[in-house]
Amino acid sequence: MIDSRTLVDDEKALVSRRIFIDNEIYEQELERIFARCWLYLGHESQVSNPGDFVSAYMGEDPVLVVRDSRGNVNAFLNTCRHRGMRVCRADQGNAAAFTCTYHGWTYGNDGKLVGVPGYKEYYYEELDMEQWGLVPVAQVSSYKGLIFGTFDANAPSLVEYLGDMAWYMDFLFDRTEEGVEILGGVHKWIIPCNWKFAADNFAGDNYHFGVTHISGLKVGFLRLGQAKTLQTTPGDGHGIIARLNPNVDERWPAEQWPEANAYMRTVEEEKERRLGSKVKDIDPGVGTVFPNFSLHSSPSIRVWHPRGPDKTEVWSWCFVDKTAPAGVKDAMRLNMLRTFSMGGIFEQDDGENWDRCTASTRGFVGRRYEFNYQLGLGHERRHEEFPGQVADGPTEMSQRGFYRRWAEIMRAED
Ligand code: FES
Ligand SMILES: [Fe+2]
Repeated sequence: MIDSRTLVDDEKALVSRRIFIDNEIYEQELERIFARCWLYLGHESQVSNPGDFVSAYMGEDPVLVVRDSRGNVNAFLNTCRHRGMRVCRADQGNAAAFTCTYHGWTYGNDGKLVGVPGYKEYYYEELDMEQWGLVPVAQVSSYKGLIFGTFDANAPSLVEYLGDMAWYMDFLFDRTEEGVEILGGVHKWIIPCNWKFAADNFAGDNYHFGVTHISGLKVGFLRLGQAKTLQTTPGDGHGIIARLNPNVDERWPAEQWPEANAYMRTVEEEKERRLGSKVKDIDPGVGTVFPNFSLHSSPSIRVWHPRGPDKTEVWSWCFVDKTAPAGVKDAMRLNMLRTFSMGGIFEQDDGENWDRCTASTRGFVGRRYEFNYQLGLGHERRHEEFPGQVADGPTEMSQRGFYRRWAEIMRAED
């Protein structure tokens, strides 16, 4: 086992480059991070009827999330108990049962093995079907419509795991009575980068924006406006970047998005009624739930699936208020596509950095030199209104929290 203390120096805010490229560390991550933490699986709006299912991944394990005929949402390893074939190869749909396309074992939408070709003639009715159902994910739970799962039966509850992060998530997912829904299907793309470059950036990199995304800013594609950002670190590895004193006209300019502008004004009122007057002060816009679920007010949610130390498969969805008018949903979808999606202007900028950062870390000598996470070190503070720690201006406070948590979990025996 690798001792993560040698890889993350919390006091000096230095992180070994090895954690972004080393295969042995990656294997330990699959066991200690991805087989233990709560991971995002899908949204309740995707499985609202009995038999509805969506595909997901937990680390490199394919998972099937399905509402059974009795109405319970379960998650199972999406791998046949006979020889490992995926029992469901669609991204989403509705099914009473899943038949493996290799030898035909069939599982009910509650995961039970219900059909085996040749059960009588060739298995002589000796196969114990009770024992050979799909492997369930140990715990499945949802928060404001977002479904998460963990392979660890002893993991704390999802609400406990999210901690103060939930307070910030409510601004996006609980601002209206009906909550949000997923619009359309999933977008998937592969970036040749370590998954942590992406999760770290969304957790709190408010330092890169004016450099990485300068071309988009220069052509007026996005106006940063007057709003100041505040970085907040709710703890437990999660991170959020928020705008202070949010202004609908800056976020959704009326001349570009008239319908969305008008709608967001009414939502501000509803949000205030539901969440309190704090919504006037702060607007959480981008963040990461440790380890690999990120959110963005573009609006997009995404999972950075690990695919080896130097590859990430992004799964991204557009989410919208369920009760928003069709024109507003369309405006949100277009804004997301243009900014943060596989063809989005800012997504392209970011992905190229993470790709090159990973590639240059592969070198044998370069790998000996740590990354510097000292930006704003020691200048964190508590806020009387917002939970967690906060910092003004660009800081790497949340990334430090992310790697602190990463190291803790990597060295914890259970
Ligand atoms: S692998 Fe599924 S039935 Fe053989
Ligand atoms: Fe970016």
